[in-house]
Amino acid sequence: MPKSETILITGGAGFIGSNLCQFLIDKAISIVCLDNFDDFYSEEIKQNNINDLRKNPLFEFVTGDIRDSVLLDNIFSKRKIDFVIHLAAKAGVRVSISNPQEYFDVNVTGSICLLEAMRKYNVKNLIFSSSSSVYGNKNGKLVETEICDNQISPYAVSKRAVEMLNYNYHINSKFNVINLRLFSVYGKNQRPDLVIYKFINLISNNQPIEIYGNADTTRDYTYIDDIVNAFYSSIEFLKTNDRNIYETINIGNDNPISLRQLVDLIVKTTKRYDIKIIQTEYAIGEVTNTHADINKARRLLNYSPSVSIEKGINLFYDWYKTKNQPFLQAHYQSHTSQPANQSFVNELAKPTQEKKKF
Ligand SMILES: NC(=O)c1ccc[n+]([C@@H]2O[C@H](COP(=O)([O-])OP(=O)(O)OC[C@H]3O[C@@H](n4cnc5c(N)ncnc54)[C@H](O)[C@@H]3O)[C@@H](O)[C@H]2O)c1
Repeated sequence: MPKSETILITGGAGFIGSNLCQFLIDKAISIVCLDNFDDFYSEEIKQNNINDLRKNPLFEFVTGDIRDSVLLDNIFSKRKIDFVIHLAAKAGVRVSISNPQEYFDVNVTGSICLLEAMRKYNVKNLIFSSSSSVYGNKNGKLVETEICDNQISPYAVSKRAVEMLNYNYHINSKFNVINLRLFSVYGKNQRPDLVIYKFINLISNNQPIEIYGNADTTRDYTYIDDIVNAFYSSIEFLKTNDRNIYETINIGNDNPISLRQLVDLIVKTTKRYDIKIIQTEYAIGEVTNTHADINKARRLLNYSPSVSIEKGINLFYDWYKTKNQPFLQAHYQSHTSQPANQSFVNELAKPTQEKKKF
Protein backbone atom coordinates (compact mmCIF):
# COMPACT_ATOMS: atom_id res chain seq x y z
CA MET A 1 0.00 0.00 0.00
CA PRO A 2 1.50 3.41 -0.89
CA LYS A 3 2.35 5.51 2.13
CA SER A 4 -0.17 8.30 2.59
CA GLU A 5 0.88 11.90 2.95
CA THR A 6 1.94 13.53 6.20
CA ILE A 7 0.34 16.81 7.18
CA LEU A 8 1.64 19.29 9.72
CA ILE A 9 -1.28 20.96 11.48
CA THR A 10 -0.37 24.00 13.55
CA GLY A 11 -2.83 24.82 16.33
CA GLY A 12 -4.13 21.26 16.08
CA ALA A 13 -5.17 20.96 19.73
CA GLY A 14 -7.72 23.74 19.38
CA PHE A 15 -11.36 23.65 18.34
CA ILE A 16 -11.06 23.38 14.55
CA GLY A 17 -7.68 21.65 14.70
CA SER A 18 -8.77 18.75 16.90
CA ASN A 19 -11.81 18.08 14.72
CA LEU A 20 -9.66 18.24 11.60
CA CYS A 21 -6.99 15.92 13.05
CA GLN A 22 -9.68 13.33 13.86
CA PHE A 23 -11.23 13.60 10.39
CA LEU A 24 -7.89 13.18 8.60
CA ILE A 25 -6.75 10.31 10.81
CA ASP A 26 -10.01 8.55 10.05
CA LYS A 27 -8.88 8.80 6.42
CA ALA A 28 -5.55 7.14 7.36
CA ILE A 29 -3.54 10.35 6.90
CA SER A 30 -0.54 10.87 9.21
CA ILE A 31 -0.64 14.02 11.28
CA VAL A 32 2.04 15.98 13.03
CA CYS A 33 0.22 18.34 15.36
CA LEU A 34 2.05 21.39 16.73
CA ASP A 35 0.45 23.42 19.52
CA ASN A 36 1.77 25.48 22.44
CA PHE A 37 -1.48 25.43 24.48
CA ASP A 38 -1.68 29.17 24.24
CA ASP A 39 -3.42 30.77 27.24
CA PHE A 40 -6.32 32.36 25.32
CA TYR A 41 -8.39 29.62 26.94
CA SER A 42 -7.65 26.70 29.23
CA GLU A 43 -4.98 24.13 28.38
CA GLU A 44 -7.18 21.47 30.00
CA ILE A 45 -9.83 21.88 27.30
CA LYS A 46 -7.22 21.48 24.56
CA GLN A 47 -5.62 18.47 26.26
CA ASN A 48 -9.09 16.92 26.38
CA ASN A 49 -9.60 17.66 22.69
CA ILE A 50 -6.60 15.51 21.76
CA ASN A 51 -6.78 12.80 24.43
CA ASP A 52 -8.22 10.17 22.10
CA LEU A 53 -6.09 11.28 19.18
CA ARG A 54 -2.92 10.66 21.17
CA LYS A 55 -3.76 6.94 21.27
CA ASN A 56 -3.61 6.72 17.47
CA PRO A 57 -0.22 5.85 15.90
CA LEU A 58 -0.97 8.16 12.98
CA PHE A 59 -1.05 11.12 15.37
CA GLU A 60 2.18 12.70 16.57
CA PHE A 61 1.96 15.60 18.97
CA VAL A 62 4.66 18.24 19.34
CA THR A 63 4.34 20.82 22.09
CA GLY A 64 5.75 24.14 20.99
CA ASP A 65 5.43 27.55 19.46
CA ILE A 66 5.26 28.41 15.76
CA ARG A 67 7.67 31.27 16.54
CA ASP A 68 10.36 28.80 17.61
CA SER A 69 12.47 28.42 14.47
CA VAL A 70 14.75 25.81 16.04
CA LEU A 71 11.74 23.65 16.83
CA LEU A 72 10.40 24.12 13.29
CA ASP A 73 13.82 23.11 11.91
CA ASN A 74 13.58 20.00 14.00
CA ILE A 75 10.09 19.15 12.78
CA PHE A 76 10.80 19.68 9.09
CA SER A 77 14.28 18.12 9.06
CA LYS A 78 13.20 14.87 10.73
CA ARG A 79 9.97 14.20 8.84
CA LYS A 80 8.77 14.39 5.28
CA ILE A 81 5.90 16.88 5.49
CA ASP A 82 3.74 17.06 2.37
CA PHE A 83 1.20 19.70 3.42
CA VAL A 84 0.93 22.33 6.11
CA ILE A 85 -2.45 23.35 7.48
CA HIS A 86 -1.85 26.51 9.45
CA LEU A 87 -4.44 27.12 12.17
CA ALA A 88 -2.27 28.32 15.07
CA ALA A 89 -3.24 31.83 16.02
CA LYS A 90 -4.41 34.08 18.76
CA ALA A 91 -8.13 33.93 18.04
CA GLY A 92 -10.78 36.34 19.28
CA VAL A 93 -11.66 39.65 17.72
CA ARG A 94 -12.39 41.78 20.78
CA VAL A 95 -9.37 40.77 22.87
CA SER A 96 -7.12 41.74 19.96
CA ILE A 97 -8.14 45.37 20.39
CA SER A 98 -6.57 45.56 23.82
CA ASN A 99 -3.56 43.45 22.86
CA PRO A 100 -2.66 44.12 19.22
CA GLN A 101 1.07 43.56 19.63
CA GLU A 102 0.69 40.02 20.88
CA TYR A 103 -1.82 39.24 18.12
CA PHE A 104 0.65 40.45 15.51
CA ASP A 105 3.53 38.65 17.16
CA VAL A 106 1.79 35.27 17.13
CA ASN A 107 -0.39 35.57 14.05
CA VAL A 108 1.93 37.45 11.71
CA THR A 109 5.50 36.93 12.96
CA GLY A 110 4.62 33.32 13.84
CA SER A 111 3.33 32.78 10.30
CA ILE A 112 6.54 34.21 8.85
CA CYS A 113 8.56 31.72 10.95
CA LEU A 114 6.43 28.90 9.58
CA LEU A 115 6.63 30.14 5.97
CA GLU A 116 10.40 30.49 6.24
CA ALA A 117 10.77 26.96 7.62
CA MET A 118 8.60 25.65 4.77
CA ARG A 119 10.75 27.49 2.23
CA LYS A 120 13.93 26.18 3.80
CA TYR A 121 12.72 22.57 3.71
CA ASN A 122 11.02 22.88 0.33
CA VAL A 123 7.50 22.18 1.64
CA LYS A 124 5.27 24.10 -0.74
CA ASN A 125 1.66 23.19 -0.02
CA LEU A 126 -0.13 25.42 2.44
CA ILE A 127 -3.74 25.76 3.58
CA PHE A 128 -4.32 28.74 5.83
CA SER A 129 -7.28 29.41 8.10
CA SER A 130 -8.25 32.97 7.31
CA SER A 131 -11.43 34.63 8.50
CA SER A 132 -14.59 36.35 7.33
CA SER A 133 -13.45 39.28 9.50
CA VAL A 134 -11.01 40.34 6.75
CA TYR A 135 -13.99 41.81 4.84
CA GLY A 136 -14.59 44.49 7.51
CA ASN A 137 -18.04 46.05 7.71
CA LYS A 138 -19.80 45.35 4.43
CA ASN A 139 -23.39 44.59 3.53
CA GLY A 140 -24.73 41.76 1.45
CA LYS A 141 -22.98 38.63 0.31
CA LEU A 142 -19.22 38.72 0.71
CA VAL A 143 -17.35 37.68 -2.40
CA GLU A 144 -13.65 36.84 -2.52
CA THR A 145 -13.04 39.48 -5.21
CA GLU A 146 -13.99 42.33 -2.80
CA ILE A 147 -11.15 44.69 -1.92
CA CYS A 148 -10.30 43.97 1.72
CA ASP A 149 -8.66 47.15 3.02
CA ASN A 150 -10.96 48.07 5.90
CA GLN A 151 -10.67 45.55 8.72
CA ILE A 152 -11.94 46.80 12.07
CA SER A 153 -9.85 44.75 14.53
CA PRO A 154 -6.14 43.90 14.87
CA TYR A 155 -7.13 40.21 14.65
CA ALA A 156 -8.73 40.79 11.24
CA VAL A 157 -5.74 42.84 10.04
CA SER A 158 -3.42 40.01 11.13
CA LYS A 159 -5.44 37.48 9.12
CA ARG A 160 -5.38 39.69 6.03
CA ALA A 161 -1.65 40.28 6.49
CA VAL A 162 -0.99 36.53 6.49
CA GLU A 163 -3.07 36.07 3.32
CA MET A 164 -0.84 38.69 1.70
CA LEU A 165 2.35 37.09 3.02
CA ASN A 166 1.15 33.78 1.61
CA TYR A 167 0.84 35.51 -1.75
CA ASN A 168 4.48 36.66 -1.44
CA TYR A 169 5.61 33.07 -0.92
CA HIS A 170 3.40 31.93 -3.79
CA ILE A 171 5.02 34.45 -6.16
CA ASN A 172 8.60 34.32 -4.89
CA SER A 173 8.92 30.69 -3.82
CA LYS A 174 6.18 28.98 -5.89
CA PHE A 175 4.14 27.90 -2.88
CA ASN A 176 0.71 26.41 -3.57
CA VAL A 177 -1.64 28.24 -1.24
CA ILE A 178 -5.30 28.07 -0.31
CA ASN A 179 -6.56 30.70 2.11
CA LEU A 180 -9.89 29.51 3.51
CA ARG A 181 -11.94 32.40 4.85
CA LEU A 182 -13.96 30.69 7.58
CA PHE A 183 -17.32 32.05 8.71
CA SER A 184 -18.31 31.68 12.42
CA VAL A 185 -17.51 28.05 13.01
CA TYR A 186 -19.37 26.09 15.70
CA GLY A 187 -19.75 22.49 16.89
CA LYS A 188 -18.01 19.87 19.01
CA ASN A 189 -14.93 21.13 20.94
CA GLN A 190 -15.95 24.72 20.25
CA ARG A 191 -13.98 27.48 21.91
CA PRO A 192 -15.72 28.56 25.12
CA ASP A 193 -15.53 32.25 24.14
CA LEU A 194 -17.63 31.75 21.00
CA VAL A 195 -21.26 32.72 21.18
CA ILE A 196 -23.03 29.38 20.77
CA TYR A 197 -20.95 27.64 23.42
CA LYS A 198 -21.00 30.71 25.65
CA PHE A 199 -24.79 31.20 25.55
CA ILE A 200 -25.64 27.52 25.99
CA ASN A 201 -23.24 27.27 28.89
CA LEU A 202 -24.51 30.43 30.61
CA ILE A 203 -28.16 29.54 30.10
CA SER A 204 -27.58 26.00 31.37
CA ASN A 205 -25.93 27.45 34.47
CA ASN A 206 -28.76 29.92 35.14
CA GLN A 207 -26.52 32.86 34.26
CA PRO A 208 -27.63 35.89 32.22
CA ILE A 209 -26.45 36.25 28.64
CA GLU A 210 -25.21 39.52 27.17
CA ILE A 211 -26.57 40.55 23.81
CA TYR A 212 -25.33 43.46 21.75
CA GLY A 213 -27.65 46.35 20.88
CA ASN A 214 -30.89 45.12 19.36
CA ALA A 215 -29.53 41.66 18.65
CA ASP A 216 -29.80 42.44 14.96
CA THR A 217 -26.22 41.65 13.97
CA THR A 218 -26.11 38.63 11.68
CA ARG A 219 -23.66 35.76 11.31
CA ASP A 220 -23.31 32.98 8.80
CA TYR A 221 -22.74 30.18 11.34
CA THR A 222 -21.01 27.17 9.78
CA TYR A 223 -20.97 23.72 11.30
CA ILE A 224 -17.58 22.13 12.02
CA ASP A 225 -18.22 19.05 9.82
CA ASP A 226 -18.66 21.29 6.78
CA ILE A 227 -15.47 23.14 7.71
CA VAL A 228 -13.32 20.00 8.02
CA ASN A 229 -14.76 18.73 4.74
CA ALA A 230 -13.65 21.98 3.10
CA PHE A 231 -10.10 21.51 4.44
CA TYR A 232 -10.05 17.96 3.12
CA SER A 233 -11.31 19.07 -0.31
CA SER A 234 -8.59 21.73 -0.31
CA ILE A 235 -5.93 19.04 0.18
CA GLU A 236 -7.46 17.07 -2.68
CA PHE A 237 -7.57 20.22 -4.82
CA LEU A 238 -3.85 20.85 -4.21
CA LYS A 239 -3.05 17.22 -4.96
CA THR A 240 -4.98 17.01 -8.21
CA ASN A 241 -4.06 20.36 -9.80
CA ASP A 242 -0.64 20.60 -11.33
CA ARG A 243 -0.70 24.37 -11.86
CA ASN A 244 0.89 26.67 -9.30
CA ILE A 245 -2.05 27.54 -7.03
CA TYR A 246 -3.03 30.59 -5.06
CA GLU A 247 -6.71 30.71 -4.15
CA THR A 248 -8.73 32.47 -1.47
CA ILE A 249 -12.07 30.79 -0.80
CA ASN A 250 -15.01 31.57 1.49
CA ILE A 251 -16.26 28.67 3.61
CA GLY A 252 -19.62 29.61 5.06
CA ASN A 253 -23.16 28.33 5.33
CA ASP A 254 -24.81 30.87 2.98
CA ASN A 255 -27.66 31.26 5.47
CA PRO A 256 -27.02 34.01 8.03
CA ILE A 257 -29.24 34.47 11.06
CA SER A 258 -29.51 37.35 13.52
CA LEU A 259 -28.38 37.18 17.13
CA ARG A 260 -32.06 37.38 18.07
CA GLN A 261 -32.86 34.31 15.95
CA LEU A 262 -29.87 32.50 17.40
CA VAL A 263 -31.03 33.08 20.96
CA ASP A 264 -34.56 31.91 20.09
CA LEU A 265 -33.09 28.77 18.58
CA ILE A 266 -30.93 28.11 21.63
CA VAL A 267 -33.92 28.62 23.92
CA LYS A 268 -35.97 26.11 21.90
CA THR A 269 -33.13 23.61 21.80
CA THR A 270 -32.23 23.80 25.49
CA LYS A 271 -35.88 24.17 26.55
CA ARG A 272 -34.80 26.94 28.92
CA TYR A 273 -37.61 29.45 28.67
CA ASP A 274 -36.55 31.46 31.69
CA ILE A 275 -33.38 33.07 30.38
CA LYS A 276 -32.04 36.36 31.69
CA ILE A 277 -30.68 38.90 29.24
CA ILE A 278 -28.37 41.84 29.71
CA GLN A 279 -28.42 44.24 26.82
CA THR A 280 -25.06 45.88 26.06
CA GLU A 281 -23.81 48.30 23.45
CA TYR A 282 -22.64 46.95 20.11
CA ALA A 283 -19.16 45.46 20.50
CA ILE A 284 -16.20 47.35 19.11
CA GLY A 285 -14.27 45.36 16.54
CA GLU A 286 -17.14 43.04 15.64
CA VAL A 287 -18.55 43.44 12.12
CA THR A 288 -22.28 43.91 11.77
CA ASN A 289 -23.12 41.21 9.24
CA THR A 290 -21.47 38.25 7.59
CA HIS A 291 -22.85 36.27 4.68
CA ALA A 292 -20.57 34.06 2.62
CA ASP A 293 -20.88 33.85 -1.11
CA ILE A 294 -19.87 30.21 -1.53
CA ASN A 295 -19.97 29.94 -5.32
CA LYS A 296 -16.20 29.71 -5.57
CA ALA A 297 -16.09 26.98 -2.90
CA ARG A 298 -18.81 25.09 -4.77
CA ARG A 299 -16.91 25.42 -8.04
CA LEU A 300 -13.37 24.61 -6.87
CA LEU A 301 -13.94 22.36 -3.87
CA ASN A 302 -17.34 20.88 -4.66
CA TYR A 303 -18.31 22.38 -1.30
CA SER A 304 -21.91 22.18 -0.22
CA PRO A 305 -22.80 22.91 3.42
CA SER A 306 -24.85 20.02 4.73
CA VAL A 307 -25.74 21.00 8.31
CA SER A 308 -28.48 23.57 8.87
CA ILE A 309 -28.18 25.88 11.88
CA GLU A 310 -31.20 24.15 13.51
CA LYS A 311 -29.60 20.72 13.18
CA GLY A 312 -26.15 22.03 14.11
CA ILE A 313 -27.35 23.63 17.34
CA ASN A 314 -29.01 20.33 18.28
CA LEU A 315 -25.82 18.42 17.52
CA PHE A 316 -23.81 20.91 19.55
CA TYR A 317 -26.19 20.69 22.48
CA ASP A 318 -26.02 16.87 22.40
CA TRP A 319 -22.24 17.11 22.61
CA TYR A 320 -22.42 19.77 25.34
CA LYS A 321 -24.70 17.55 27.43
CA THR A 322 -22.31 14.61 27.28
CA LYS A 323 -19.53 16.92 28.48
CA ASN A 324 -21.60 18.40 31.31
CA GLN A 325 -23.79 15.50 32.34
CA PRO A 326 -24.07 15.90 36.13
CA PHE A 327 -25.12 19.53 35.99
CA LEU A 328 -27.69 18.98 33.24
CA GLN A 329 -29.33 16.05 34.94
CA ALA A 330 -30.12 18.42 37.80
CA HIS A 331 -31.30 21.04 35.33
CA TYR A 332 -33.72 18.68 33.60
CA GLN A 333 -35.21 17.50 36.86
CA SER A 334 -36.07 21.08 37.84
CA HIS A 335 -37.10 22.54 34.46
CA THR A 336 -39.12 19.98 32.54
CA SER A 337 -42.43 21.74 33.23
CA GLN A 338 -41.52 25.19 31.86
CA PRO A 339 -43.97 26.75 29.32
CA ALA A 340 -42.94 26.11 25.75
CA ASN A 341 -43.58 29.36 23.90
CA GLN A 342 -42.00 32.33 25.63
CA SER A 343 -40.04 34.17 22.98
CA PHE A 344 -36.70 35.84 23.36
CA VAL A 345 -38.10 38.85 21.53
CA ASN A 346 -40.57 39.50 24.35
CA GLU A 347 -37.80 39.02 26.82
CA LEU A 348 -35.63 41.59 25.07
CA ALA A 349 -38.41 44.17 25.05
CA LYS A 350 -38.90 44.11 28.84
CA PRO A 351 -38.21 47.58 30.30
CA THR A 352 -36.63 46.25 33.49
CA GLN A 353 -33.53 44.96 31.83
CA GLU A 354 -30.20 45.97 33.11
CA LYS A 355 -28.20 47.95 30.52
CA LYS A 356 -24.50 47.76 30.59
CA LYS A 357 -21.75 49.45 28.60
CA PHE A 358 -19.40 47.06 26.84
N1 LIG B 1 -13.59 29.43 15.14
C1 LIG B 1 -13.94 30.25 14.19
O1 LIG B 1 -15.12 30.61 14.04
C2 LIG B 1 -12.91 30.78 13.21
C3 LIG B 1 -13.35 31.62 12.17
C4 LIG B 1 -12.41 32.12 11.28
C5 LIG B 1 -11.07 31.77 11.40
N2 LIG B 1 -10.67 30.97 12.42
C6 LIG B 1 -9.25 30.63 12.54
O2 LIG B 1 -9.10 29.22 12.58
C7 LIG B 1 -7.99 28.89 13.40
C8 LIG B 1 -8.42 27.92 14.49
O3 LIG B 1 -9.43 28.56 15.26
P1 LIG B 1 -10.10 27.87 16.52
O4 LIG B 1 -11.44 28.45 16.66
O5 LIG B 1 -9.92 26.41 16.42
O6 LIG B 1 -9.19 28.48 17.68
P2 LIG B 1 -8.42 27.77 18.87
O7 LIG B 1 -7.90 28.87 19.73
O8 LIG B 1 -9.25 26.71 19.47
O9 LIG B 1 -7.19 27.08 18.10
C9 LIG B 1 -5.98 27.74 17.87
C10 LIG B 1 -4.88 26.85 18.41
O10 LIG B 1 -3.63 27.48 18.13
C11 LIG B 1 -2.79 27.28 19.24
N3 LIG B 1 -1.76 28.32 19.23
C12 LIG B 1 -1.94 29.64 19.51
N4 LIG B 1 -0.75 30.28 19.43
C13 LIG B 1 0.17 29.33 19.09
C14 LIG B 1 1.56 29.38 18.87
N5 LIG B 1 2.25 30.54 19.00
N6 LIG B 1 2.21 28.24 18.54
C15 LIG B 1 1.53 27.07 18.45
N7 LIG B 1 0.20 26.97 18.64
C16 LIG B 1 -0.47 28.09 18.97
C17 LIG B 1 -3.71 27.37 20.45
O11 LIG B 1 -3.16 26.76 21.61
C18 LIG B 1 -4.95 26.67 19.93
O12 LIG B 1 -4.94 25.30 20.26
C19 LIG B 1 -7.44 30.20 13.95
O13 LIG B 1 -6.39 30.62 13.12
C20 LIG B 1 -8.61 31.16 13.81
O14 LIG B 1 -8.16 32.49 13.66
C21 LIG B 1 -11.56 30.45 13.34
